[in-house]
Amino acid sequence: MDKFDVVIIGSGPGGYVAAIRSAQLGLKTAIIEKDPELGGTCLNVGCIPSKALLASSDHFTFAKKEAAKHGIVLDKIRLDLGTMLTRKDKVVKTLTGGVRALMKGNKVTVFTGLGSISEPGKVRIQPNDGSPNEIAADHIVIATGSVPVNLPNMAFDGNTIVSSTEALCFDQVPAKFLVIGAGAIGLELGSVWNRLGSEVTVLEFLPRIAVGFDLEMSNLLQRSLTAQGMKFHLETKVGSVKVTNGRAVATATKGGEELKFEADKVLVSVGRRAFAEGVGADKLGVAMDERGRIKVDENFRTNIPGIYAIGDVIAGPMLAHKAEEEGIACVELIAGKAGHVNYEVIPGIIYTNPELAGVGLTEEQAKEESRKVRIGKFPFRANGRALANEDVEGWVKFIADGETDRILGASVLNHAASELIAEIVAVMEFGGSSEDLGRTVHAHPTLSEAVKEAALAVEKRAIHIGNR
Ligand code: NAI
Repeated sequence: MDKFDVVIIGSGPGGYVAAIRSAQLGLKTAIIEKDPELGGTCLNVGCIPSKALLASSDHFTFAKKEAAKHGIVLDKIRLDLGTMLTRKDKVVKTLTGGVRALMKGNKVTVFTGLGSISEPGKVRIQPNDGSPNEIAADHIVIATGSVPVNLPNMAFDGNTIVSSTEALCFDQVPAKFLVIGAGAIGLELGSVWNRLGSEVTVLEFLPRIAVGFDLEMSNLLQRSLTAQGMKFHLETKVGSVKVTNGRAVATATKGGEELKFEADKVLVSVGRRAFAEGVGADKLGVAMDERGRIKVDENFRTNIPGIYAIGDVIAGPMLAHKAEEEGIACVELIAGKAGHVNYEVIPGIIYTNPELAGVGLTEEQAKEESRKVRIGKFPFRANGRALANEDVEGWVKFIADGETDRILGASVLNHAASELIAEIVAVMEFGGSSEDLGRTVHAHPTLSEAVKEAALAVEKRAIHIGNR
């Protein structure tokens, strides 16, 4: 029987990054993946293909609506959806192939098949075809991720009522596209098909979209997406979706009133749940919480010695970068090093246009915690580069401690918010203040000057706008 120091079950960003770090630390490492391709949800049916379609559909919108403003006259613009989807698939293939090459380069052994822990220290691998194999491991890391929540009254049928997986590859643009849930998935995929010509309606149970992000910024995003043609019904709870002859009708309640929505395709994006089925955790008595997530201590150890868990299968935000950091910290701790994840500073991003990025506390959370804070804001319409780009939507907003000035949180709403937030994240990681950021030289002309200006606005000393 082959024996390894570390065996990782699941090759998503949590698992494969953990495997690389483990090998770097000199540990004999194996990774087990049930799907034919490595990379998990993120690379195959999540972050990467959705960003590929968001980029393509954004270019399509630019060609149709924005190019003329720059004096670029494009006639007869038409969509070639087949090419768009093929390009997306190519991007995915390049990256999943890249992960396989990284495994080889780092001498990580890859097993294809369903990995299940038969007993502490032993993992059985059952390939789709062929006989099972068993390997031994001193340390086993469960990184099996999450799956979309499938509600019984609107169960996925893979064709009309779909999850994000199918909404990444419709072979034609649905005339009417209904999205249930205004979280990251609903807003991103709703944006893609809206840009490509669908009539998109989003139904959301809460009185707001993008829960978890700063309310003011979320409302601005909603306004912007509405201007782009998306329709929103808030405080609308979908009870069921029925399909007859390929057409769906969703029944929802809003303020005691029953509403019906018809559509060609319905995306149910009401959250994801931890996925630990088949891994054998239940049989071994690995403790789980009430939401089916594996319970771990601060060192990612489960209650069974030698078994660890990271990423979406444990508590915390279901984000690829959170899983990656946990994977690294977990194997560093296994190797006797000081691994650590700073949960206070994990950015979240919704990749619409404008993108919405947030990190740390929101204004509402600061209020709930009765923290004394100062707020600084700056609009991109007052930023030279944004004007030069003809892309002036959005704001930067800082929440700083009222006494120490330490940055507690920030939000960026902008076409480039996903990149702009990184600077703020780095300053927060070092415990920096709004003054630190405001006194840092930022190249001119750049969008990042709006970040500096918003930091200066905390002390009411922004340069390019009046301070109130
Ligand atoms: P989510 O949990 O972010 O949002 C689901 C929304 O559905 C909530 O606002 C909820 O109130 C609403 N909802 C639930 N039941 C409903 C009903 N019956 N009727 C109407 N509304 C209902 O879930 P989402 O968007 O599916 O994402 C799942 C996970 O994946 C999240 O943890 C998210 O952070 C992560 N993710 C992150 C991405 C990113 O960072 N860009 C992209 C995609 C996913």
